Amino acid sequence: MSGYEIKKVFVTGGAGFIGSNFVRHLLEIRSEVNLINYDALTYAGNLESTADLTDHPRYTFVHGDICDGEKVAGLLKDHKIDTIIHFAAESHVDRSILSGAEFVRTNVGGTQSLLEAALKCGVSRFVQVSTDEVYGSLGETGQFTESTPLAPNSPYSASKAGADLLARSYYHTFGLPVVTTRCSNNYGPYQFPEKLIPLMIIKAMRDERLPVYGDGMNVRDWIHVLDHCDAVLAAAEMGLPGEIYNIGSSNEWPNIEIVKRLLHHVGKPESLVQYVKDRPGHDRRYAIDSTKSRRELGWAPKVNFDQGLAETVQWYLDNTTWWENVMSEETQNYSEQ
Ligand code: NAD
Ligand code: DAU
Repeated sequence: MSGYEIKKVFVTGGAGFIGSNFVRHLLEIRSEVNLINYDALTYAGNLESTADLTDHPRYTFVHGDICDGEKVAGLLKDHKIDTIIHFAAESHVDRSILSGAEFVRTNVGGTQSLLEAALKCGVSRFVQVSTDEVYGSLGETGQFTESTPLAPNSPYSASKAGADLLARSYYHTFGLPVVTTRCSNNYGPYQFPEKLIPLMIIKAMRDERLPVYGDGMNVRDWIHVLDHCDAVLAAAEMGLPGEIYNIGSSNEWPNIEIVKRLLHHVGKPESLVQYVKDRPGHDRRYAIDSTKSRRELGWAPKVNFDQGLAETVQWYLDNTTWWENVMSEETQNYSEQ
């Protein structure tokens, strides 16, 4: 299949979990691509996640905020950027419940400012990296398709839905070539230890109690981060402007099953599980239908879940310095809340 050729790429949020995996992967598999990683280095952004790329000849890191439209536009012009891959966001649901303001500022305001800069500078592709959470929650059956109505339930997902709608409007009103992806829960290396999988691995390693929300039967549909990265690249290269592509691995698990598997991998007893008060507004089940992406983007997930999960646990066991460094005082204060 041939499609649009990406050459000079501006990645936002490339110091975060998915962004750092994406920039490394893209530089590896596209030898002609030059890339700028633009990131504000919030609590979730960490240059240690891309330390191996610092001297890469086709890689540049720029510290900056997506809300700073002038700075972004300057970079887009100076580097003759053709493609924006927009990962930067406040991404954690629990934090959005504690305070939504930063979510609206970055996810809504920052996306609008980026879209405006992209329009001004005439970029040829803008990939809006979004989430299945914009569709809300499912009952025991069914899957989200691209035409499922938006029904976000948390301040995080509402801010992502707002960003998606702005992206849509820039396509319809101004013809900006926006492609939107909506993916399910990612796992893999470099994920910030506030999210379920890394948090549980680290707590198990430390013999701490593992806090499972509610009855532990909320279902998430897990995909390896590199499968998501491949899908985002496929959307940039093969996706049609104005279209939405769901991304998922058809891999649903109740949270308690994931937690038990992690305890098994770390070699700790199930008695460490502690059922705690539920997350307010907790979405019961996510499941994504990715038929359209598989058919139209020529993409399919490759990572086997058993193997991917075991490798992820091993990565956290082998990289204690990485997660000890990111668990700053701020993270400590947040966990206490
Ligand atoms: P993350 O929290 O690990 O990383 C976010 C990155 O964005 C950090 O490096 C942070 O410093 C940067 N950032 C935050 N605010 C910024 C700002 N104002 N300006 C510039 N940079 C800023 O997030 P993640 O899990 O890697 O998610 C990346 C994207 O993928 C998000 O848009 C998220 O909504 C989406 N997504 C995530 C998942 C998942 O399971 N993690 C699933 C589907 C979609
Ligand atoms: O579905 C995609 C989304 O997945 C992304 O858009 C978000 O950025 C990402 O954070 C993730 O959202 P979730 O809320 O599903 O992920 P989280 O890891 O926070 O929680 C996964 C499930 O585990 C959820 O049902 C809540 C539960 N949980 C989470 C934590 C942190 C617990 O039971 N205990 C915990 O301590």
